[in-house]
Amino acid sequence: MSQTSRALLPFGTTIFTTVSRLAQRHNAVNLAQGFPDFDGPDFIKDAAAQALRAHPNQYAPSPGLPLLRARAAERFTAMTGLPADPESDVTVTAGCTEAIAACVLGLCNPGDRAVLIEPFYDSYRACLAMAGVSPVPVAVRPQPTGRFALDLDELRAAFAQPGPAPRLLLLNSPHNPTGAVFTRDELAAIADLCARAGTIVIADEVYDRLVYDPARTPHVPIASLPGMADRTVSLNSLGKTFSLTGWKIGWAVAPAALSAAVRAAHQFLTFAVATPLQHAAAEALRREGDAVPPLLDTLRHGRAELSRALADIGLRPYASEGTYFVLADHSALSARLGVGTDAEFCQRLITAAGVAAIPPSVFYVRPELGRPMARFAYCKRPETIATAVARLRDWAARSA
Ligand SMILES: Cc1ncc(COP(=O)(O)O)c(C=O)c1O
Repeated sequence: MSQTSRALLPFGTTIFTTVSRLAQRHNAVNLAQGFPDFDGPDFIKDAAAQALRAHPNQYAPSPGLPLLRARAAERFTAMTGLPADPESDVTVTAGCTEAIAACVLGLCNPGDRAVLIEPFYDSYRACLAMAGVSPVPVAVRPQPTGRFALDLDELRAAFAQPGPAPRLLLLNSPHNPTGAVFTRDELAAIADLCARAGTIVIADEVYDRLVYDPARTPHVPIASLPGMADRTVSLNSLGKTFSLTGWKIGWAVAPAALSAAVRAAHQFLTFAVATPLQHAAAEALRREGDAVPPLLDTLRHGRAELSRALADIGLRPYASEGTYFVLADHSALSARLGVGTDAEFCQRLITAAGVAAIPPSVFYVRPELGRPMARFAYCKRPETIATAVARLRDWAARSA
């Protein structure tokens, strides 16, 4: 009999573990999990090595090293035009994942409701469950234009439900897994409803620098919209922007009252995060302008090559306006191959083509919405993308 709590039992083992195991067994090119197969810049790793030797390796202050908080505050101000006091408004966390948990646990009471835009980063729903918060799903849906758009009717309906207003809305833009970058109009609709209902927005912006579509550049932080500064917690992380996903250094920026709630949970989740890596993270933020352009070149290349190959073999890739990911509709190809769900398609892809992707139905409250799709991560070296593309083309030729 399982010893796992009722809250967590339904989540089982994450899809990443399951797919990675299968991918390893079949020696598949792993385009499943969202991490680069290259490392971040040497200057950041050098700063970490130096900090390990030069500084005391003891607990950092719970809210984070003052220098890193100051740099995160400067970055936030540059992105939003809003002031941020590093003393009271910035909290350094163990990646954005801990920041999400700290927001939900610090801001919600059991029985609260939260608007959950689906598909979602998988920790959102699990954190809501751990806090006893009910998700109110609102979909982003594929459009004939090739991008995913927020279902505004469903959004309005979520706020019109009887009972207390939703406590939180969990927003992720640029959006994993669809690659959509929310438009100013979509963000304004969210802002308007949240301001009227008194709902707090948790804005997960870990991909804020990774935007490729000129029409969506630069990404619009929702905190910068009228009326949102006082009701938004903006989350970010070193991992995606600097190709250092293994470091797990993130941060939350919010006005003092919201930050106090985040810190109330953070102090008992981790208390503080790795001191030397915080020194290096401060250096990374100081030189962000050096690190990002070469990364964008690599990601643009992977995105273009992979999207083209997916289309050529009979999938329908959607526009990846930002992030590491492209979602592709596999239904026409699956119908030819005699497979049904996203899970079956991804399994076939691993075993027959030697390429691993993620079945996205696990990122939905309503899994049927994700069944026609597969998610591919293109945050990989050109050689890796070339191998994956060659294998996909070869498989398509063999199964034609
Ligand atoms: C939307 C989103 N938020 C948060 C994270 C996790 O960030 P971190 O590694 O900093 O915890 C990810 C990682 O895939 C993500 O896609």
